[in-house]
Amino acid sequence: MMRNSSKKNSKAQPAQKAGKFAALGSKRDACLLDAEEFLLPTYKRQPVIMTHGKGAYVFDSTGKKYLDFLGGIAVNALGHAHPRIVKVIRREAARAIHLSNLYHNAFQGPLARKLAEWSGLDRVFFANSGTEAVDGAMKLARLHGRNPEESAGTPAKKHRFLALENSFHGRTFGAVSVTATEKYRLPFAPVVPGVEFARLNDVSDLEAKFDSTVCAILLETVQGEGGIYPISEAFWNRARSLATQHDALLIADEIQCGLGRTGRHFAYQRFSSKPDITVVAKPLAGGLPLGAILTTEAVATRVSPGMHGTTFGGGPLACAVALEFLSVIEDENLLENVQLRGAELREGLTKLALQFDFIREIRAEGLMIGIELSVEGAPFVNEAMQRGLLMNCTHDFTLRLLPPFIITKAQVREFLNLFEIVLEKTPKQAATSDSANTERPGRVAHAAARG
Ligand SMILES: Cc1ncc(COP(=O)(O)O)c(C=O)c1O
Repeated sequence: MMRNSSKKNSKAQPAQKAGKFAALGSKRDACLLDAEEFLLPTYKRQPVIMTHGKGAYVFDSTGKKYLDFLGGIAVNALGHAHPRIVKVIRREAARAIHLSNLYHNAFQGPLARKLAEWSGLDRVFFANSGTEAVDGAMKLARLHGRNPEESAGTPAKKHRFLALENSFHGRTFGAVSVTATEKYRLPFAPVVPGVEFARLNDVSDLEAKFDSTVCAILLETVQGEGGIYPISEAFWNRARSLATQHDALLIADEIQCGLGRTGRHFAYQRFSSKPDITVVAKPLAGGLPLGAILTTEAVATRVSPGMHGTTFGGGPLACAVALEFLSVIEDENLLENVQLRGAELREGLTKLALQFDFIREIRAEGLMIGIELSVEGAPFVNEAMQRGLLMNCTHDFTLRLLPPFIITKAQVREFLNLFEIVLEKTPKQAATSDSANTERPGRVAHAAARG
């Protein structure tokens, strides 16, 4: 019997296609065609196929080499193909990739212990990604806020979340609900109810919005996607004291800024107090997907078996690699390297800012660096790529650098030389009216970043 031809059957093979790619016919072009035809169009990707990496460099399918100052968006903290990470992956992949959370594995407990030591918190839940860790943290906050007398299924009196303007916490429903950027959130309305946004580093706005119905305040200790804006000490201290006063939780999203990125184990360690929950992911398992919620004993006492869970989170392979990642940071003294290389980059960029008047500001915490321009940032990213340098642009005007923790002094120099050429050669494009209207946090945040 003849079937209705499916969408896929009706498609021509890549090599038969007419149009701009047809004549090329190579494997690379077939790959790009398949991507264009079959992937959900969620990304504006560069038309290159990255094939492999070594240390701070990556290579594309034509053999072109790039200095990687984006690090897979803060994931590849040890660069590419770090020998200790590769060794553990080989060893453990041959033993057990997945076993299930119905049993213990040899790595989850020791990894939780290590994260507790690094963070000063008590207990850990392993998830698969940053956004999933954020959603889990929000569930813990709701659980903690619920009075045992309130019947299950009714909204708890203490259920509101405070988040910050300019924030980014992820793409699942909970995380997107506390993400300020409207283009990520509004198309999916109604999102999780009970969320209000306070102005970044504006203590009076925070005080005005905090009351006893708030179950948690969520903040990125250094805002990443928003353009590298650190939380000020005054704001952190007030958030901590208001949370304590109202028996709400302070949740620090350290998915981008945590685990060494700022030169400390956690970015909040530059303050004198701790959050009730912190969430991490990106670099944790050397590029394998793994996220974690770290919290206090007080929060953990409300949790019982079955309330939360995951199939993949905390699997033996990912946890073994994560343990190795944390050990490499300690053994190779990488926090110090982050501080030293970060200072060199900041110094070099500050000199370039004197030379190029379209650089408005440099904001940096360790190896988390934002270069705010008064012109469109995207053309600089493209020019850099042409010249073998990877970085990205966030919020239209801010070039973002997230190099690996293993970069050397020589690679910092290599970057500064390349970047100077990029700044010089890129055609400058004035801000479009759309992008000029992009909200930027107030100057109060800028001042904090310089300190
Ligand atoms: C601060 C922050 N929170 C949450 C997320 C979401 O993490 P994931 O993409 O792993 O879900 C990100 C990702 O960029 C992030 O930077």
